[in-house]
Amino acid sequence: MHKLILVTGGTGYIGSHTVVELMNEGFDVVIIDNLSNSEKSVLDGIAKITGRRPYFEQFDLCDKERVHNFFKIYRKVGAIIHFAAYKAVGESVEKPLMYYQNNLISLMNLLQGMVDFNVHNLVFSSSCTVYGEPDELPVTEKAPIKLSTSPYGNTKQIAEEIISDTIKAHELLKAIALRYFNPIGAHPSALIGELPIGVPNNLVPFITQTASGIRDELKVFGNDYNTHDGTAIRDYINVVDLAKAHVVSVKRMLAEKTKSNFEIFNLGTGKGSSVLEIVNSFKKATGRDLNYKIVGRREGDTEAVYADTKLANEELGWKAEISLEDTLKSAWEWEKNIRNLK
Ligand code: UFG
Repeated sequence: MHKLILVTGGTGYIGSHTVVELMNEGFDVVIIDNLSNSEKSVLDGIAKITGRRPYFEQFDLCDKERVHNFFKIYRKVGAIIHFAAYKAVGESVEKPLMYYQNNLISLMNLLQGMVDFNVHNLVFSSSCTVYGEPDELPVTEKAPIKLSTSPYGNTKQIAEEIISDTIKAHELLKAIALRYFNPIGAHPSALIGELPIGVPNNLVPFITQTASGIRDELKVFGNDYNTHDGTAIRDYINVVDLAKAHVVSVKRMLAEKTKSNFEIFNLGTGKGSSVLEIVNSFKKATGRDLNYKIVGRREGDTEAVYADTKLANEELGWKAEISLEDTLKSAWEWEKNIRNLK
């Protein structure tokens, strides 16, 4: 019963790792993805790892009719994990309407489908960005939501509100929002990983591309923060650990073990690392040297954010297990694989 899980954005970075973990646990998976920021070949990687191919439907979730028709055909969806969204902070500042359109219309179409076709369980991909610059560290789920510094971040806040309101109006609906800290690394098989298009915005893809010679040097954005080495602190979590938290959340919903109709969990390691610590751990984990230069701060960056993971530990029985070094090594193995390096 209810073994079919719909994963939107399932060929994307976190989505593909989650599909693998779901399939490893015996779930059937149908992916909806418009391939706007991912490649169809990801399905081959998933099939190589799991020995099975997920169902795949390529269309845009902003197309309401297509969403409706999807639910007409796939009658047995037990839960939805909704990843599909734009996610580049800088781009969202330049193209706010594109972000609001895409990230919110798709969510509303999906929720409408859930209401119309009696699909009751939603896991939503949220972000620690909703906490802004937190007043207290580590950040708990009770920390106040701060005014968002980017349209991207705002879409996550508004999406949580849309979900919350919809659930209040439909008593059978349930949702779990997972607020990710900084997901990094790749599957240990090096068959799936992150595929940034163009110049990466995020730290670890920039590091691996610098180590592989695509970029000359890493720019470290600011060393005048009020932290032990002056560089900003984040909570870097392995993407496979993160993916497993989604499987646990789906199982919790299917087993009707949720404590309220809308639950929220932080997903991080609970440990903060500075940019320079990541650089040094990368060197140690891979034996590669890395050119870097300290430059000015990046606009909109926060000083320090890391998770209080107690709630996820206690309620989901989940915690991050893979070490930072193994995670950085996995990111490097993936980079070597896609660049055909030894
Ligand atoms: N950094 C560098 N050089 C780079 C890239 C990043 O020094 O080339 C630094 C950043 O300044 C920051 C840290 O590395 O201090 C991490 O930066 P990322 O871009 O990897 O991650 P962010 O914490 O900025 O972004 C993450 C998610 C976003 C989310 C944001 C808000 O990727 O989706 O957190 O909290 F919106």
